Amino acid sequence: MYHTNINNSDNEIFQKFTESVSYDRNLFKQDIKGSIAHAKMLAKQNIISTDDADKICSGLYQIEKEIINNKFIWKYELEDIHMNIESRLQELIGDIAGKLHTARSRNDQIALDMRLFLKETIVDTIKLLLELQSTIIARAEENLDVIIPGYTHMQRAQPLLLSHHLMAYFNMFTRDITRFENNYSETDVMPLGSGALAGVPYSIDREFISKELGFSKISTNSMDSISDRDYILEFLFNSATAMSHISRICEEIILWSTQEFNFISLDKRFTTGSSMMPQKRNPDFAEISRGKIGRVYGSLIGLLTIIKGLPLTYNRDLQEDKEGLFDTIETLQSTLKVMNGIIETSTYNKEVMLKAAQDNSMLATDMADYLVNKGVPFRKAHEAMYLLVDYANSSNKTLKELSLDEYKNFLPEFEEDVFEIDLNHSINQRNVTGGTSLEQVKNAIKNAKIKTENKINEYKKY
Ligand code: ARG
Repeated sequence: MYHTNINNSDNEIFQKFTESVSYDRNLFKQDIKGSIAHAKMLAKQNIISTDDADKICSGLYQIEKEIINNKFIWKYELEDIHMNIESRLQELIGDIAGKLHTARSRNDQIALDMRLFLKETIVDTIKLLLELQSTIIARAEENLDVIIPGYTHMQRAQPLLLSHHLMAYFNMFTRDITRFENNYSETDVMPLGSGALAGVPYSIDREFISKELGFSKISTNSMDSISDRDYILEFLFNSATAMSHISRICEEIILWSTQEFNFISLDKRFTTGSSMMPQKRNPDFAEISRGKIGRVYGSLIGLLTIIKGLPLTYNRDLQEDKEGLFDTIETLQSTLKVMNGIIETSTYNKEVMLKAAQDNSMLATDMADYLVNKGVPFRKAHEAMYLLVDYANSSNKTLKELSLDEYKNFLPEFEEDVFEIDLNHSINQRNVTGGTSLEQVKNAIKNAKIKTENKINEYKKY
């Protein structure tokens, strides 16, 4: 990126103020691809000659090579990606280059570039999400029957399967994928032919360009089509939501890896030492992933603000849509990779988790339900269990260690079968769709596997 320095002259500062080529050069492939399709269409419609179109296309191919090989000289004074490429084309093939911009404006050109670019980005993002989901499924399968305490209000609540907890993450990312798929469909609209704002006075073939570039629809209002940035907003929102999921998972990872919890141990690759305290292994990767959300939310709010109150049609404010988007893509995609690595490599400390789940309070709800089954009103059962857990805790015993007589002191409805209530019993009682019983979780994993494999295959075609 191109930085303004306080020693620059005012002229330099003013030039840098309007340029976008320092970042919109990211779009060079899409810009060239769009121009080639446009030139071909102009020739097919006899707006320019086939010979001219061929010259334009081979010039564009050469420019693409120059850019890829870092031989292209970018000129900030030419403002943006479009002018840089057009000016180089002029150097290469002379005045014929000037025919390329027939029936086109930079306003519909940038909209085209952004849509082409975002379509590819969305596919890549979905692929990363699917990879992460596969890792989650694998870890859930591997730890299918590991028992953990489940929390509400950060207080131990009821026992759960670790696999059920992991599959909750899977569900979050499934919704993210759905959102990105809808986003793809909204982005998959071809804007070229809208011109500067009103359409173009040539008999162009928009369907042809659309097919050439792999769009499934063409835009239907030229004014809306060049000023619409909803598809970018949606991408930013979807990214912000995915990052919020990641931040929640990271928070748990950080908490679970504390000495106080010690539920998981992070792989060395995803921790760093402290420069001062030799004993420390800090969960920096999870912390940075949690913190990266700030810039993604920032970009979303940024674009929402830019678009608010903007009159039709194109206004240069819209150029400010790019840096936040590019930063969000880089942030989300790298964070997804880190997340995948952390989940793939962390060790679950099963004994510690189990011990925490054996806390007296964990089976209290199940025992209350047990009493309800014996005819005790729920409120009365609730009260008895509250007193019983208190009693067990103050006599330093687990619920299992109490005698039947001690139980009966609280309510006569307790019988020998109260001792059958244990963690596995509690978990497997919750055999409703979406519950934590082993059978339900197995089923959920099975369905998730089929769904994910199908999706991975579907995305192989891109
Ligand atoms: N750099 C501009 C943008 O990103 C391209 C379109 C410029 N159009 C114009 N009429 N100046 O929005």
